[in-house]
Amino acid sequence: MAEGRFYITTPIYYPSDVLHIGHAYTTVYCDALARWHRLKGDKVFFLTGSDEHGQKIERAAAAQGKEPKEYVDAIVATFQELWKRLGISYDDFIRTTEPRHKRVVQAIFRQLYEQGDIYSSKYEGWYCTPCEAFWLENRLEDGNCPDCNRPVEWVTEESYFFRMSKYGERLLAHIEANPDFIQPETRRNEMVSFIRQGLEDLCVSRTSFDWGIPVPFDPDHVIYVWIDALSNYLTAIGYLSDEDQFKTWWPADVHVVGKDILRFHTIIWPALLMALGLPLPKRVYGHGWLVLDSGKMSKSKGNVVNPNDLIDEFGADAIRYFLLREVSFGQDAKYSRRALVERINADLANDLGNALYRSLSMLERFCDGVVPQPGAPAPVDLRLQELAADVIGGMDECLQALEVNSALARLWRLVRGVNKYIDDTEPWSLAKDPSAQERLHTVMYHVCEALRIVALLLKAFLPESGSKMWRQLGLTAWEEKGFDDLTWGGIAPGTRTAKEDPLFPRLDPAVVLAEEEIEEDDEEETPQADRPVAEERKDTKVSETEGIITIDEFAKVQLRLAVVETAERVAGADRLLKLQVDLGDEKRQIIAGIAQHYAPEALIGKRVVVVANLKPAKLRGELSEGMLLAAVGNDGKLGVVTVEEEIAPGALVR
Ligand code: MSP
Repeated sequence: MAEGRFYITTPIYYPSDVLHIGHAYTTVYCDALARWHRLKGDKVFFLTGSDEHGQKIERAAAAQGKEPKEYVDAIVATFQELWKRLGISYDDFIRTTEPRHKRVVQAIFRQLYEQGDIYSSKYEGWYCTPCEAFWLENRLEDGNCPDCNRPVEWVTEESYFFRMSKYGERLLAHIEANPDFIQPETRRNEMVSFIRQGLEDLCVSRTSFDWGIPVPFDPDHVIYVWIDALSNYLTAIGYLSDEDQFKTWWPADVHVVGKDILRFHTIIWPALLMALGLPLPKRVYGHGWLVLDSGKMSKSKGNVVNPNDLIDEFGADAIRYFLLREVSFGQDAKYSRRALVERINADLANDLGNALYRSLSMLERFCDGVVPQPGAPAPVDLRLQELAADVIGGMDECLQALEVNSALARLWRLVRGVNKYIDDTEPWSLAKDPSAQERLHTVMYHVCEALRIVALLLKAFLPESGSKMWRQLGLTAWEEKGFDDLTWGGIAPGTRTAKEDPLFPRLDPAVVLAEEEIEEDDEEETPQADRPVAEERKDTKVSETEGIITIDEFAKVQLRLAVVETAERVAGADRLLKLQVDLGDEKRQIIAGIAQHYAPEALIGKRVVVVANLKPAKLRGELSEGMLLAAVGNDGKLGVVTVEEEIAPGALVR
């Protein structure tokens, strides 16, 4: 595989507050692309960081009675912690308060001043502090900032200006000659019409606050925070400090930003780079926003969704999957707890988790848990091989086009393809027929190999789950595996698998969503005047925990309806019956201690309830792969739990 290089950046986040799932989306999205390129053998530089200067931060720190640096240090630590929990594989985390960055920003400012691209003049105009942006009067909407709708402030000061007006024509020509430069296309058109209205020179210094990088030759001024922030993309890769490193990585392959800050990245940033004589980034992608049913997430509305809470509840990979799968290229997407739970259940528990779990269960039962030697492939096997190859190629195309959600949709074609292949080939029927053993081995080999490919492809998206699958499939050297290992046939016959608990336990929407409603009700309780709400709720939880399990704990138990097909006594054990049960997609053997209560033939045809994800055990030398539910009275009387309704085997009981 030819080695390319790939430099990808997230925006650097304002440490004015904790991050929400919108921010997590941008970062997880970049992480998936970075990981994909690493998988392909490319050299990757993945940059993220924090944008720590500006009036907004200065005011937020003052409101807490803190020095700005002390204030941002604490918040930036929470960013880094969140990225760790979400498995973000950045190569560098840049903070704009670092000396390495200050040096670069001051050198850039000085160079542009010396070459006449920055000049001194008087500024009067409207300024939006939350967006750190100046606006012309005619761009305001009802007197407010057109981006965030908040009030703007009139500022008058002696300032430095960047001659942005000089670059409008060159910029238009560049956009026209490089149709990929701004993505998606609809946003490119918006940017083009913005530039066509004529670019004003940009005020690039402020004197009304101190929290910023001083203009090197006029320290009463601090450099405009967007000039400071955008330059991070150069600092981190050695601009003006390590020429070789800089040449390796610049121009960036893609700057990923939210649609709200596309203008800064496709107008101010390219004009600055042109003035510096540097090539422009290859692509700037403005993604859509994650919105709630109640509209935009905002601190003032109090509806911000904290990714840490979701990770605690559902795990990092489930959140990564939801974000990557739910947001279509360039579009806004809705976040709701319901949508999240539905994705987890449908795609992760039912499709992915089930494909692995049922396959390894069958492998244990039919092949002692060892990957068998396949025979010659039948057409259905070749179709599975073709599907895998097709999915790999298709995913790569999607990811070149930055369409991560489509890439995941393709991958799930393969995941579902494995489940369908199992349904079509019916290994449980083959296992009953001694003359079909070679065919059984070929089928089981194909299942394992397709799952190996799925696991490896997941490395870019759900790295933790991918590595768990890899381990369960009995494979090693996960860290080293890449695109070249996706060739069909990588799993060696003889590999001993090691089934574990299902990757993603199924969640009960009725319970998980009801819990949310209860929490909301709690919030509405009037807190006692002398006690903070959080403390009160914590107390309640403590008393509730004794003897009580959480829904997550309950959800780990997989109860399923099974039909008893055969039943017989276990020789030498007068309490045990050996049952063969049909679980819909598979057959199981269960050893049940009910021989003193039921004649074997009385059980045949009964729809019983089994614990389907219980670790298999041997009883009197017989494998038992599950447990029957039964009611036991004080007098020792026993009744097996049965379902009267004609519900198909395999149905979940909850
Ligand atoms: N500091 C600037 C970026 C400077 S880059 C040189 C900034 N920071 S931010 O913290 O306010 O926002 C960072 C990113 O988060 C932006 O790309 C923004 O679009 C994104 N998001 C903020 N809310 C979002 C959603 N609800 N959904 C998706 N992305 C969101 O802007």
